[in-house]
Amino acid sequence: MGRLSAFGIVSLLAQIGSARLYESVSSLPAINFDYIIVGGGTAGCVLANRLSEDSDVNILLLEAGGAYDGVEQLEIPFNSIRSAGSGSAWDWNFTTTTGSSYSRGYVLGGSSSVNGMFYARGSEDDWARYAAVTGDDGWTWNKIQPYLKRISSLLQIITIPLVNLILLFTGKSVPFTSSVLTRLIQLWYSTDGLVGVSLPGFPQFTDSLFVETVMNRSTADQFPFKLDYNDGTPLGYGWVQSTIKDGARSSAASAYLADEFLNRENLHVLIHAQASRVLPSGDNKTIKTVEFSQASIGNSTRTTLTASREIIVSAGVIGTPVLLLNSGIGDLTELSALNIPSIANIPSVGKNFSDHLNLLAAWALNVSQPFSPAESTTFERFTLDLAQMAAFVDQWRESRDGPLAMNGLSNQIGFRRLDSSDPNVQHSLDSFGDPSPGPRAAHFGYTPINGFAFGRPPTNNSYLSMVATVVQTKSRGSVKLNSTVPSGKPIIDTGIRSNPYDLFAMREAFKAVFDFLATAPWVNYLEDSQPALGLQAVIDANFSADAMNTYITSLSSEGLHGVGTASMSAAGAGWGVVDPDLVVKGLQGLRVVDASVLPFVTSTNPMVAVYIVAERAADLIKSSKD
Ligand SMILES: Cc1cc2nc3c(=O)[nH]c(=O)nc-3n(C[C@H](O)[C@H](O)[C@H](O)COP(=O)(O)OP(=O)(O)OC[C@H]3O[C@@H](n4cnc5c(N)ncnc54)[C@H](O)[C@@H]3O)c2cc1C
Ligand SMILES: *[C@@H]1O[C@H](CO)[C@@H](O)[C@H](O)[C@H]1NC(C)=O
Ligand SMILES: *[C@@H]1O[C@H](CO)[C@@H](O)[C@H](O)[C@H]1NC(C)=O
Ligand SMILES: *[C@@H]1O[C@H](CO)[C@@H](O)[C@H](O)[C@H]1NC(C)=O
Ligand SMILES: *[C@@H]1O[C@H](CO)[C@@H](O)[C@H](O)[C@H]1NC(C)=O
Ligand SMILES: *[C@@H]1O[C@H](CO)[C@@H](O)[C@H](O)[C@H]1NC(C)=O
Ligand SMILES: *[C@@H]1O[C@H](CO)[C@@H](O)[C@H](O)[C@H]1NC(C)=O
Ligand SMILES: *[C@@H]1O[C@H](CO)[C@@H](O)[C@H](O)[C@H]1NC(C)=O
Ligand SMILES: *[C@@H]1O[C@H](CO)[C@@H](O)[C@H](O)[C@H]1NC(C)=O
Ligand SMILES: *[C@@H]1O[C@H](CO)[C@@H](O)[C@H](O)[C@H]1NC(C)=O
Repeated sequence: MGRLSAFGIVSLLAQIGSARLYESVSSLPAINFDYIIVGGGTAGCVLANRLSEDSDVNILLLEAGGAYDGVEQLEIPFNSIRSAGSGSAWDWNFTTTTGSSYSRGYVLGGSSSVNGMFYARGSEDDWARYAAVTGDDGWTWNKIQPYLKRISSLLQIITIPLVNLILLFTGKSVPFTSSVLTRLIQLWYSTDGLVGVSLPGFPQFTDSLFVETVMNRSTADQFPFKLDYNDGTPLGYGWVQSTIKDGARSSAASAYLADEFLNRENLHVLIHAQASRVLPSGDNKTIKTVEFSQASIGNSTRTTLTASREIIVSAGVIGTPVLLLNSGIGDLTELSALNIPSIANIPSVGKNFSDHLNLLAAWALNVSQPFSPAESTTFERFTLDLAQMAAFVDQWRESRDGPLAMNGLSNQIGFRRLDSSDPNVQHSLDSFGDPSPGPRAAHFGYTPINGFAFGRPPTNNSYLSMVATVVQTKSRGSVKLNSTVPSGKPIIDTGIRSNPYDLFAMREAFKAVFDFLATAPWVNYLEDSQPALGLQAVIDANFSADAMNTYITSLSSEGLHGVGTASMSAAGAGWGVVDPDLVVKGLQGLRVVDASVLPFVTSTNPMVAVYIVAERAADLIKSSKD
């Protein structure tokens, strides 16, 4: 019996009864794959699904990490970002040159399986800039709308005025809870898209404070309510939309690789398979071969597979440049210093790493525990009380509800522009150059969190946290190979705070946080509280630039929203890695489809932009087939 048919029998066995998810390369069927997708993350799952809609083509998806299905830690929304970070079984454990951890999902669904689940589409101006920079109007807001419907279609225009009206009537006297809003919206909105998106699934004590601030006539001008920050103009304060479906995380894996799709005969998914390189054909111009191994499960033998049509790299903002560089696609001089034979001299590979900048502030609240009712408590009620936590886990298992059904961060988010009516702000914007793509996009955002936001609280108190985010930074970084061990952990220099604009914008965001907390309901809530984490020093110094800079420098961190390391640019541009159709410049057969192609980060959280890029890429690939 020949080797091929032996493979065939094994694969048949593996397929009996269920999905084509393979643990071992030895069970892969020995068939011809038309497309091989490297990286089963946010973008990779979308491509695997959409390309396999055409039953004439065979798809192979390679993912370095393991399966997502049935991993309760990832499915429980409250855990969200608590499942990420160094040491997690579902994380790449990357560390930056400044020593901080840079999380990336190491599991099917990629970072969508471990992220904070904030669902935000960016602003119309972000997309206008992508179109302008690439010279391709297929990236404009209007042109991407059909993709948004395929991803998810929670909010549609007709019902917005209605819900708005209800809010206006109920806003003052009946603090309008977000769970009521969720139920309302579920009644009125269709959800044809695959990713489930929900409004807050569990009320927080802070919800009514938020409602009072945005509904109070004397503060609403400064803090306007925004019903749907996903309408193209994300400015104002509104309820968070999260990728949660029926109380559980909706990841790229659970949505796009659900059983009904995995059961397609032409879709094959191999987990624990990490690609090391893509390999060229003889002329170095066509790349259709990928080399990978299953070293993480003890098999370091390298396999190569050749696709008849294309290799699509979707390994993410770090994994993608690492793979390209190891393949000899990158800066010629830098690669020859590493003794990596050059296939294509593309200096932008791994450059222009861009991210958001986050800052945490926290207050220890002077309230005694235990609290009652549940709505008037902070997360500490169960994060500090393991018995209570266990009870809520049981509740979640039983009915997919309770406090663990919320995203673990916040029920509200606000996006704002810098106040250019302030001459000092305008002067700074003029001298730094305004990085914002346009007037519909925010410069910064912030979100109140009903508990301590990151890690274990410093004391056994209840907390209020605020996270401020500069959503357009000017700092740029890079992803490079380690010259000692090019195949080992990459050198990730995120460039954090290297451009002084970012510090300036964060100081403004910081002051805006305090303006927000100075409104009536919050002032009372924080009356007896203790500023934590060194905040008191900033207050004592009357928010001097120096004091704020010290605080920001010690407590700010990357937004974990990195993009740009395999950027798209106009065809023929002197920089960039891929053309607007996401084909690697100067090569055939090789595309990049993931966060790394975005030349700028969106002015909101970026996951939806990655979904959009992948949905459009699937269309581009399908239309290039004929
Ligand atoms: C902790 C955290 C919180 C976040 N919170 C939010 C949020 O609330 N909202 C939001 O919009 N965005 C958020 N983000 C950002 C968002 O999740 C990412 O921008 C997005 O998911 C990136 O998608 P991607 O397809 O580019 O990469 P990923 O989803 O990371 O996928 C890359 C995949 O490739 C695999 N891979 C890598 N290298 C190889 C290789 N050599 N061979 C095989 N497989 C490989 C990886 O294991 C992974 O599965 C967050 C990110 C993190 C990490
Ligand atoms: C990250 O560390 C954890 C804990 O040691 C481990 O389980 C996981 O496999 C590591 N991730 C990678 C990509 O090696
Ligand atoms: C290890 O990988 C090689 C090639 O990738 C494959 O032929 C072999 O069957 C694998 N071994 C096991 C035990 O799966
Ligand atoms: C392809 O690239 C390799 C490695 O740089 C080089 O040795 C070889 O000469 C190239 N082949 C062609 C046809 O350019
Ligand atoms: C970085 O991006 C900018 C556009 O934002 C571009 O002008 C520049 O050439 C890029 N740099 C590299 C090294 O790719
Ligand atoms: C908080 O309480 C736990 C258990 O009650 C105790 O072990 C821990 O030391 C306390 N931490 C602080 C910072 O007081
Ligand atoms: C490169 O890898 C070597 C060997 O693992 C390690 O000792 C060194 O610290 C790495 N260099 C950087 C800059 O991370
Ligand atoms: C509205 O805000 C003003 C100014 O902060 C405050 O004085 C007033 O009490 C608030 N009204 C209500 C009903 O909260
Ligand atoms: C906390 O509240 C109690 C009762 O209201 C009060 O006596 C105490 O001084 C407060 N403590 C702080 C640190 O504000
Ligand atoms: C802060 O402002 C107060 C009141 O205006 C003033 O008394 C104090 O000296 C100032 N503190 C500093 C450090 O400037």
